[in-house]
Amino acid sequence: MCYAIPGKIIRLKEKENIAILDYYGEHRNVLNELLDVKIGDYVYAQGGIIIDKISKKEALEILNFWKQKFQELKKTDKKLSKVKDIKASDNLFEILQKVNYKKELSKEDMLFLLNLKNPNEFKLLYEFANNLRQKEHDNACCVHGIIEFSNYCKNDCYYCGIRNSRNIKRYRMSPKQIIDIVKHAVKQLGFKALVLQSGEDSWYNEEKLINIIRELKKLGILIFLSIGIKSKETYDKLYKAGARAVLLRFETSNKNIFHELRPNTDFDERINLIKYLKSKGWIIATGFLIGLPEESQNDIINNILLTKELKTDMYSFGPFIPCKNTPLQNEPLINKNIILKSIAISRLLDKKAKILVTTALESLDKNSKKQGLLAGANSLMINITPKKYRHDYYLYPGRLDKNKEITDNIEETINLLYSIGRAPTDIGV
Ligand code: 5AD
Repeated sequence: MCYAIPGKIIRLKEKENIAILDYYGEHRNVLNELLDVKIGDYVYAQGGIIIDKISKKEALEILNFWKQKFQELKKTDKKLSKVKDIKASDNLFEILQKVNYKKELSKEDMLFLLNLKNPNEFKLLYEFANNLRQKEHDNACCVHGIIEFSNYCKNDCYYCGIRNSRNIKRYRMSPKQIIDIVKHAVKQLGFKALVLQSGEDSWYNEEKLINIIRELKKLGILIFLSIGIKSKETYDKLYKAGARAVLLRFETSNKNIFHELRPNTDFDERINLIKYLKSKGWIIATGFLIGLPEESQNDIINNILLTKELKTDMYSFGPFIPCKNTPLQNEPLINKNIILKSIAISRLLDKKAKILVTTALESLDKNSKKQGLLAGANSLMINITPKKYRHDYYLYPGRLDKNKEITDNIEETINLLYSIGRAPTDIGV
């Protein structure tokens, strides 16, 4: 199985460190910073960065295998992403026209979209966003693996199932275990980008993290960290060791809600860290929860705007799912359409972005993953945490991948992508 298609370098812009890759006639710009490469080489890119070089022979085999499939998929995607003629209010048409004419949407426009009540109208919004996605990215879909290596967390966030004071079985993988799991994911399962996620667990000190990253870097993959707040100096060292991407949500743009629900943490510190990492060249995935208590529609729009303002490379947001034995256990669950509308609005605001269908959205029901991808999203994560730990990484209830074999999960996801014409290519910068 292969989650990235190799591209051929057709041009190098040395000054900016940019390489232009050809994927069956389609061109994408990627950053070239890890490897010494030349025109004509075949490489893998992930998250818009060249991560590995492969031999011409191996590349051509893979490309031949994919060629016909790739064209078929593109056709399917193109067909599915046409906007059908749907009756809608003048107001909605006006807003969509603004996007067509590259005019900026006002906050009122966004609130109007988030508030759409007529199912035909939100269908039109989703189709429109999906069409923008197709025009900008073609049928490319990022597929990253995620491994949840520790559920210890020093924080006590009210919404979270692995909060410090919740009485659950805790686990921690050893560095060797993490490395072995990632190696398996790369060599046996074909992943090219791996997210390493944990609670805020200081057992993994700088030295341990550096050693893990150095070892993983040898595999020629994109290493994505999701380990919470660390000092800037530590992140600098982790970058130097070979990590390139970070998933760090700001959780909510509403400072009051943030401080209410996240004792002993600081909103500004989090935002400043995200900005700092962006300035240092990290690929940034950030975002928020939707449906926290006291949250208004205005907050949701502010969340989307803040994600954009942080120049995120990947939007990562999903529903807040109430979790038993947490202070928010009796809160209501948000309506799925609010999440889908938020995906579509994010796409309208940020055509170039990668937008993730998060596991929390997937957990709402069997159709959510597909619906997210058809509302403007173009990225997915597949959980590759071994089954014996997966159950204990209990952020919220209802995870659909809980009892599935990893290979079944992969197969299901790939089949879904094929059914809607998406190919697991990298999307480029
Ligand atoms: N529902 C949905 N997402 C949650 N997270 C934590 N708890 C929940 C919940 N109850 C998310 C947070 C965190 C990410 C790792 O998981 O946004 O950043």
